[in-house]
Amino acid sequence: MAFPTETVYGLGADACNAAAVAAIFSAKQRPRFDPLIVHIHDFVQIELVAHSLPPKAYKLIEAFWPGPLTIVVPKQKAIPDIVTSGLPQVAVRMPGNSIARELIKQAQTAVAAPSANKFGHISPTRAAHVQESFGSEVDMILDGGPCTVGVESTILGFTADPPVVLRFGGIALEDIKRVVGEVQIPPHNSRVNASPGRQLRHYAPLTPLIAYDSPCHQQAGLRKGLLAFCPPQPAALQQYAAIEVLSERGDPAEAACNLFAALRKLDSKGLDVIVTTPAPDYGLGPAINDRLNRASYTQTAQQKARST
Ligand code: TXA
Ligand code: MG
Repeated sequence: MAFPTETVYGLGADACNAAAVAAIFSAKQRPRFDPLIVHIHDFVQIELVAHSLPPKAYKLIEAFWPGPLTIVVPKQKAIPDIVTSGLPQVAVRMPGNSIARELIKQAQTAVAAPSANKFGHISPTRAAHVQESFGSEVDMILDGGPCTVGVESTILGFTADPPVVLRFGGIALEDIKRVVGEVQIPPHNSRVNASPGRQLRHYAPLTPLIAYDSPCHQQAGLRKGLLAFCPPQPAALQQYAAIEVLSERGDPAEAACNLFAALRKLDSKGLDVIVTTPAPDYGLGPAINDRLNRASYTQTAQQKARST
């Protein structure tokens, strides 16, 4: 079943039922090495999922739950290995969306749920996006309207101290630091000390995307689309066949909320290429830029040879 959260729509299954979780992996065409986040509806339910909570994790959940923060902590036996891809830690979050929490409560179990998109593609922020990706493959979509945050949860790991930011997301780094002090940020392309799901290419439209325009994309006849953080200069407009502005007032939170829907819109227009302008480096800006970088990633021939 697909359901709304404040970040993106999720595709949910009973987190304690390995067969139900396996069905999520196959519907998403997701490799088994990429673990799922377990969703809970109240603080008591965390005992079913997490074996223990490091003090800094506890401080963060006090500050940000329910909300777009995921913590990666030692797992309980009740959570089958398929959920965590065999890791001893589990990712947990309590969503801010009240429909999501009510669903989990009614289910009387914790709910494992990835974003409700096919693996590697654009995340869904509307019920219609889930329908587009899965059609009749999902038995039910709970329509909670547009997601209010629009980018996935921020993920923090606690196997090291300071804690490690495994994914930029719906809680700004400044706010996390205010609660726990310093954090570690692995480099963009690092898989060391990072989450197994940090693929370099992710959130990708079918149309080639170039994070940040440059003169070499000024080829005559190319139908270009622009995904602009804020309104572009009028003089620049004529070179684009389509334009989506993420925030009229240049606000990173508003831009995050519009990001995936705007990307899907441009992707449906038969463009040759989509170029973007970066978000600023504060608030949810880094979460937006991280997604644009991953969505635009293409392997060079050399990298391809190395990875095979
Ligand atoms: O906002 C969100 O987090 C959304 C909504 C539906 O809650 N969910 C979401 O799930 O974004 P998904 O599966 O698309 O991304 C989960 C990320 C992956 O990068 C995965 O590798 C990481 O969380 N993850 C899950 N369990 C982990 C674990 N035990 N250790 C490290 N990383 C983990
Ligand atoms: Mg996802």
